[in-house]
Amino acid sequence: MIKLAIFASGNGSNFQAIAEYFAKHPSIQISHLFCNKPDAYVIKRAQNLGIAYTAFNKTEFYSSDYVLNQLHQTKTDWIVLAGFLWLIPQPIIEVFRDKIINIHPALLPAFGGKGMYGHKVHEAVIASGNTKSGITIHLVDEVYDNGKTLFQATCPVLPTDTAESLAEKIHKLEHTHFPAAIERTLLASVSK
Ligand code: GRF
Repeated sequence: MIKLAIFASGNGSNFQAIAEYFAKHPSIQISHLFCNKPDAYVIKRAQNLGIAYTAFNKTEFYSSDYVLNQLHQTKTDWIVLAGFLWLIPQPIIEVFRDKIINIHPALLPAFGGKGMYGHKVHEAVIASGNTKSGITIHLVDEVYDNGKTLFQATCPVLPTDTAESLAEKIHKLEHTHFPAAIERTLLASVSK
């Protein structure tokens, strides 16, 4: 069984979609949720789904082995960042080299990097006059939104679009494609 830990900071709609997709999967299991915001709605989702979770703070994440120890204790094989807003610290990157997957709500390398998250991304895309946006699913390394791209999907950006209407289209793409992209990546890694 491949154990998958999810890191999230907010609403958790991607966490929900991933948890539902793998609920009865024969070889991939969501083992744990890690969250850096104790009042984030994603924790409520984990409770409703019966998925164990750990809430942690900056000190525990960057100045101790607390989270890394939790990852070992939960026998985590892969990490998925589903709306997680902090940079992953080096010790975790080292242990999970090429086994951390992130989703970004734009077509990287454009509209990525530190500070580019949530509606800020969609506002920048609309301000750019681009006629399409989309999602990028990629491996995570030491630099924000920089690792190898695994999958991209696009949607049109209309002159009438707002950050809210574009966010809605992007979320639909995420919920449709992220779970299957994770599955393809994990199964490809075991078939090597
Ligand atoms: C998603 O738009 C994702 O692309 C970005 O953060 C957002 C998380 O949304 N990384 P949710 O918490 O999964 O609803």
